[in-house]
Amino acid sequence: MSTAGSTTGTAITGSGVWHPETVISNAELCEAFNVWVRRENAAHAAEIAAGTREPLRESTPEFIEKASGIKQRYVADRSGILDPERMIPNIPDRPDDQLAIQAEWAVHAARRALTQAGREGKDVDYVVLAASNLQRLYPALAIEVLDALGGAGSALDMALGCSSATMAITLASEAVQLGKARCAVAVTPELTTGFINWRDRDSHFIFGDAAVALVVEPVASARPGSYEVLSTRSMARFSSNIRNNGGFLNRCDPARQFDADKLFYQQGRRVFKDVVPLAARFIGEHLAAAGVAATDVARFWLHQANSNMNDLIAQRLLGRRPTALEAPLILEEFANTASAGSAIAFSKYSDDLPAGALGLMASFGAGCSLGSLLLRRR
Ligand code: COA
Repeated sequence: MSTAGSTTGTAITGSGVWHPETVISNAELCEAFNVWVRRENAAHAAEIAAGTREPLRESTPEFIEKASGIKQRYVADRSGILDPERMIPNIPDRPDDQLAIQAEWAVHAARRALTQAGREGKDVDYVVLAASNLQRLYPALAIEVLDALGGAGSALDMALGCSSATMAITLASEAVQLGKARCAVAVTPELTTGFINWRDRDSHFIFGDAAVALVVEPVASARPGSYEVLSTRSMARFSSNIRNNGGFLNRCDPARQFDADKLFYQQGRRVFKDVVPLAARFIGEHLAAAGVAATDVARFWLHQANSNMNDLIAQRLLGRRPTALEAPLILEEFANTASAGSAIAFSKYSDDLPAGALGLMASFGAGCSLGSLLLRRR
């Protein structure tokens, strides 16, 4: 069920985050959503009065912040999301000779990560591009990114729900460990606003857009201050609690082509209940296998889906509530950026740890999939 690997010999030498500058606050999001709710209820007033239809309920900023810790989200486009007639972002299709939008976001983040690593695009010989949702099937976005960076070598796309980023870093680390690559980039462009059902009260507030990239190199040539990858762990157990049935077969059944299951949907409460013990046990087992006590870990860069969930997982591991720096949160600013969250938390909160400090990056989400990396600052 669970696989572990010692990847000693590799290090994360740089990281970079990029996000669109456009922001939607909880208040703005709810205002537009509630206009739509009132219009729908007015349009179906007779059925609601007859008891044959349930009225839609309004969404509140207070609930969102309390239930998730989210205050705002970065988005590719506000105009379409906040238009109660549309409630879908406006993202124009691009011609084939232009960089695809997810590739563009990946390049922005990768350039930042390469700068921190002291490398250039031409040094890159391996790209793993991973995201919960990929905008196309082929050519692989990773190849487009490798080309745009000016690198040469091999590249692949992969998707593993909210564990896409940790698995990409693991694959990049393994490629370097095997001598297949010397400057690998794991990059995660999460364009989440394209797959949210903005008309679903239970989930319209969850996600935000962002891209994150990490550079992995042999530890022998890694710059001081980089993070050695001590070991990795991953686990998969099938679950439909979080699902998105969007795909190339959708048009083959026109009657169901645009049903809500062709976008992100979840059993949120069940996810919460299942994932907290599972993730705590998974991380605990990873640390035990490495002979490390949870209290010896200076920082947990946890998947960023819900602040209450992260608090509980860290509490189970530490036996007490974590401090803000032991398990930092980026949810207030970024919302849930699907698989990018734990890597963004790493990128934002890794400069201050002293040499020798241990940190653990972990993700948990759709699949169900879990992934973790035990790191030591050099
Ligand atoms: N605005 C106002 N109230 C809302 C609301 C909204 N947008 N959405 C739900 N509510 C209400 C519900 O109607 C319910 O009230 P009721 O009991 O009177 O009907 C109450 O709030 C609680 O609803 P519930 O769905 O149980 O909320 P929750 O506390 O479980 O929080 C999530 C919802 C999604 C934030 C939470 O379950 C979660 O984060 N789960 C994990 C999700 C996750 O990690 N997914 C992975 C994605 S990568």
